[in-house]
Amino acid sequence: MTSKPRVLSGIQPSGSLHIGNYFGSMREMIRWQEKSELFCFIVNLHALTTVTDGALLAKNTLDAAIDYLALGLDPDKCFFWIQSDLPEHTELTWILDNHTSMGLLERCHAYKEKIAKGITPNHGLFAYPVLMAADILLYQAHLVPVGRDQKQHVEVARDIAGSFNHIYGETFVLPEPLINDEVATVPGLDGQKMSKSYNNAIEIFLEHGELKKRIMAIVTDARGVNEVKDPDGCTLFALYKLFASQEQTEQMRDRYLTPGLKYVEVKKELLELIWNHFEPHRARRAELAARPDTIRDIMREGAKKAGARAGATMENVRRRVGLVY
Ligand code: ADP
Ligand code: TRP
Repeated sequence: MTSKPRVLSGIQPSGSLHIGNYFGSMREMIRWQEKSELFCFIVNLHALTTVTDGALLAKNTLDAAIDYLALGLDPDKCFFWIQSDLPEHTELTWILDNHTSMGLLERCHAYKEKIAKGITPNHGLFAYPVLMAADILLYQAHLVPVGRDQKQHVEVARDIAGSFNHIYGETFVLPEPLINDEVATVPGLDGQKMSKSYNNAIEIFLEHGELKKRIMAIVTDARGVNEVKDPDGCTLFALYKLFASQEQTEQMRDRYLTPGLKYVEVKKELLELIWNHFEPHRARRAELAARPDTIRDIMREGAKKAGARAGATMENVRRRVGLVY
């Protein structure tokens, strides 16, 4: 490995980005730009598996780019682009499709869960992990920071890379998933995993009134004011911990264990903490959002830079599989 590892991850623009995305992925990525060769991109092709409103997808794509930039991603320190700007992603997907067994994809939990929820599977949903493998292998990534739910997909990418290398000789780096266990799963308002698709998310850049509404909607148990409460079984406490200092968290734990605590007080304090946490980024976001053309230019430049890497991998792949004649 070179002195700096290549770190890569993508985020879907399938809805507004929320604090689960922030702690599970975005914050880690922003930290990595100082100590790795970082590849960060908006995976709008993946979002096609769930979004069928073109105008909405286009809007969410630009919004996701703005969110990342507002939170501190610096396009001069990393590769930052939009997946669909580089046709190499879909080209490599087709080549990898031919080295991916049906069984490997049939075993994917994410696919099985979506079917169990009643989503009618189409080919895109089934082949989703192959597109993700192409995303990762194109840039010879060593480490892929993802939430726990995506670990298996990175393992699929590794399997596909292994089979390909076995047939054609060393072509791809074998990637590894990187899970931050401290914030493995951020809970949503209802205590389930926070997700854009479960309608239980707290978005990063909500207006104050909206943010307050969401926080007041966090589900708590029915214990009365005078009862001792259970911090470790409480969604509200789990969210509070993410934004509070260690000292504040310890004090809050004591308050949970002492009669007299009202959940609404915790909610008010959480509102303050979240609001203040994103305060500096909110101003930056407003500035960026007022200049959409500048954002498009930044993303196109990013695609050019990333395209040089993807292009080099594809030249090698095309030659190895026999597409150069
Ligand atoms: P969503 O479930 O809202 O559609 P994505 O699947 O687009 O989110 O996830 C983008 C990134 O954020 C992934 O790395 C994912 O694992 C992470 N992530 C999403 N939701 C959470 C969560 N609730 N807790 C921790 N990480 C999350
Ligand atoms: N499937 C990932 C998710 O839903 C997003 C993704 C697409 C990704 N391509 C990737 C993540 C490559 C890491 C690396 O979260």
